[in-house]
Amino acid sequence: PETGCLSIIVLGASGDLAKKKTFPALFNLYRQGFLQSNEVHIFGYARTKISDDELRNRIRGYLIQGTSSEHSEDVSKFLQLIKYVSGSYDTEEGFRLLDKEIFEHERSRNSIEGSSRRLFYLALPPSVYPSVCKMIKNCCMNKSDLGGWTRIVVEKPFGKDLGSAEKLSNQIGELFDEPQIYRIDHYLGKELVQNLLVLRFANRFFLPLWNRDNIDNVQIVFREDFGTEGRGGYFDEYGIIRDIIQNHLLQVLCLVAMEKPGSLKPERIRDEKVKVLQSVMPIKDEEVVLGQYEGYTNDPTVPDNSNTPTFATMILRIHNERWEGVPFIFKAGKALNSRKAEIRVQFKDVPGDIFKCQKQGRNEFVIRLQPPEAIYMKLTVKQPGLEMSTVQSELDLSYRQRYQGVTIPEAYERLILDTIRGDQQHFVRRDELKAAWEIFTPLLHRIDNGEFKPKKYKPGSRGPVEADELLEKAGYFYLVYL
Ligand code: BG6
Repeated sequence: PETGCLSIIVLGASGDLAKKKTFPALFNLYRQGFLQSNEVHIFGYARTKISDDELRNRIRGYLIQGTSSEHSEDVSKFLQLIKYVSGSYDTEEGFRLLDKEIFEHERSRNSIEGSSRRLFYLALPPSVYPSVCKMIKNCCMNKSDLGGWTRIVVEKPFGKDLGSAEKLSNQIGELFDEPQIYRIDHYLGKELVQNLLVLRFANRFFLPLWNRDNIDNVQIVFREDFGTEGRGGYFDEYGIIRDIIQNHLLQVLCLVAMEKPGSLKPERIRDEKVKVLQSVMPIKDEEVVLGQYEGYTNDPTVPDNSNTPTFATMILRIHNERWEGVPFIFKAGKALNSRKAEIRVQFKDVPGDIFKCQKQGRNEFVIRLQPPEAIYMKLTVKQPGLEMSTVQSELDLSYRQRYQGVTIPEAYERLILDTIRGDQQHFVRRDELKAAWEIFTPLLHRIDNGEFKPKKYKPGSRGPVEADELLEKAGYFYLVYL
């Protein structure tokens, strides 16, 4: 691993994302020894004029949450690594000051040895990405003669459609090279999402079955049992397709559907993901059901006549040798009856069924991303007893039971560690982003133009009934599931 001075700069340090995700992830990395106090320094940057201690106090509560009191000493030591600089996002003054602070830190550390590494984490709204990137480029790049790097971490939403996303990519691309840009999709940091490649390509069971000859349909589901309270303003501008499907669920689809990469090199994996995206057919209107939960517009930050979907079910079709004819069903919704994210791979019926057991359900391979994490296979077995009857049962790998005492890392922890290590495998490449927008932009434009009206559904329900009808039409057999 690289050594030398590491500066992590959190821009937007007093915002929600930084407090709830970025700083706690950095703290956990620190606690586990991935950030060494003799190498690392963390800088918070934002417009608010506060002192180092004020920032530390704002963050402290979020670090203590979920950690036992025995870590309170670690919390104090970690907070001492944080310095705060205030300044605007579009003038050089603040960034020059920031650079001076970083440089001071580097000088004090690099007198020992090594290069300097600068990681800029933009916990900011994308509208300021272009100006902030420009300021970093003009004022804050790594200057060490001994090498090192400058990297930029950005979060979705990367634009609202193909045109705006490409514009943003161009603006950032003029300033930084692709290997310096880390586009986070936190689903790629989840344990079971990272397990997909291993499951698929390290198990002989699945190799011959993972195709259109054996798989009837694939369902990728995201449900939340709460609404958009507290972030209605943001959500209403984006809607469920941009918030969840175009990024998180589509990334999962890529990993489920891609061909085996030539190696585990990040570029080889990302090449294969792009190929999947480029093979997705245009989405048909009749294979889309949109919903909006009743009461969504009661939020004062949401317009009364909002047309924004809080629920969507749709079918994607991949036009290639492996997947022709297999529907990939996306389902995502807010304010539903449960909280869950899972992949359900449903196999075709057994030909010539002598047990007459098909009505009990099909073979299904389920990967539950959360919560709680599990992998299970639904299969038909003999009902124990004297009669020769059959029953659906499960081969179950529940992580809580199987890996007792093992802490599953937070997605952000893993992804930040990857940015420090320079591993871009779990980040979205520019061409991937473009291909993802190409799939959804026509549909999104039709929704934005009011050509598609979401159906109302009750909070706490399964979503609009039409969604279940679409699922059934796509061939999903869910007698047992319901
Ligand atoms: C975010 C979305 O990207 O993912 C939120 O903006 C959503 O709307 C969240 O709640 C879900 O993340 P997780 O990790 O809880 O599934």
